[in-house]
Amino acid sequence: VVTGAASGIGWHLALRLAGAGYHVVGVDVGHLGGLERAVAELGGSLVSVRGDVGVLGTMQQAVGRAGERGALELVALNAGVLTGEPDLARLSDERYATAMGANVHGVVHGIRAVLASGRRAEICRVAVTASSAGLVPTPHDPVYVMTKHAVVGLVRSLALQGRPDLRINCVCPGGVDTPILTEALKRGRRLLRSEDVASRIWDVLLGDGNGEAWVCTPDRFAPFEFPPNPGYAFPAAPPPTRLGEGSAGPGSTVG
Ligand SMILES: NC(=O)c1ccc[n+]([C@@H]2O[C@H](COP(=O)([O-])OP(=O)(O)OC[C@H]3O[C@@H](n4cnc5c(N)ncnc54)[C@H](O)[C@@H]3O)[C@@H](O)[C@H]2O)c1
Repeated sequence: VVTGAASGIGWHLALRLAGAGYHVVGVDVGHLGGLERAVAELGGSLVSVRGDVGVLGTMQQAVGRAGERGALELVALNAGVLTGEPDLARLSDERYATAMGANVHGVVHGIRAVLASGRRAEICRVAVTASSAGLVPTPHDPVYVMTKHAVVGLVRSLALQGRPDLRINCVCPGGVDTPILTEALKRGRRLLRSEDVASRIWDVLLGDGNGEAWVCTPDRFAPFEFPPNPGYAFPAAPPPTRLGEGSAGPGSTVG
């Protein structure tokens, strides 16, 4: 399953997966006809789900369609938008809701749909397209930065649960030459190509990492080194369970 598959990074990832013989479910609010034709030219297999990832039903439908063809193996939660508004006083309710819907709810709903599916591979691998804006602040779009920090925290926390049948990581690209960036945001920057970022997501999906946030710039591709815990104490993670089995009882306290 690839969300945001009608354009940019998601488009290239969907093609890459289809070219490797995976049956792909491409999800987007936009038209997926172009991707359908490109995959057909490759002789690949694609089902399109047109819908908003911020709606749980869209992600349930996508995961359901994947399960019709076999065990669900790879999930790229990649759809996203900028708000384009640095000034919170001027940010419209609509733009705020759109960014939260695509960047946060879309990831949460995607993971919820995966966890609830009875058609998962023994290990289901999830990659979330976060951003450099999920690791460091920037003044250009603070709400976008918030949404990307949110999903990095979600991914790292889920990985700490140690579920034996889930590998979940995020990829944090710097600027990528796709339609999401305005000309002003592209100017003066060394941009990544979306096909190269798609290859990095592929590497992360098929790798052994868990809970990692991969820095992705033209010069660097490595897990981000987060500073050590400054001393907060949390209860230990519950014992690992299979996806969808719910959590076990409370763990002992560490700190
Ligand atoms: N381009 C960059 O510089 C850059 C840098 C870091 C991270 N990212 C992230 O990469 C991801 C992919 O973006 P891209 O650069 O390929 O941009 P893009 O605009 O080319 O592609 C994003 C796709 O997501 C779809 N989409 C948006 N909201 C949706 C929703 N609610 N439901 C379903 N589909 C939706 C769009 O229709 C579009 O096809 C995004 O999450 C973005 O935040 C991009």
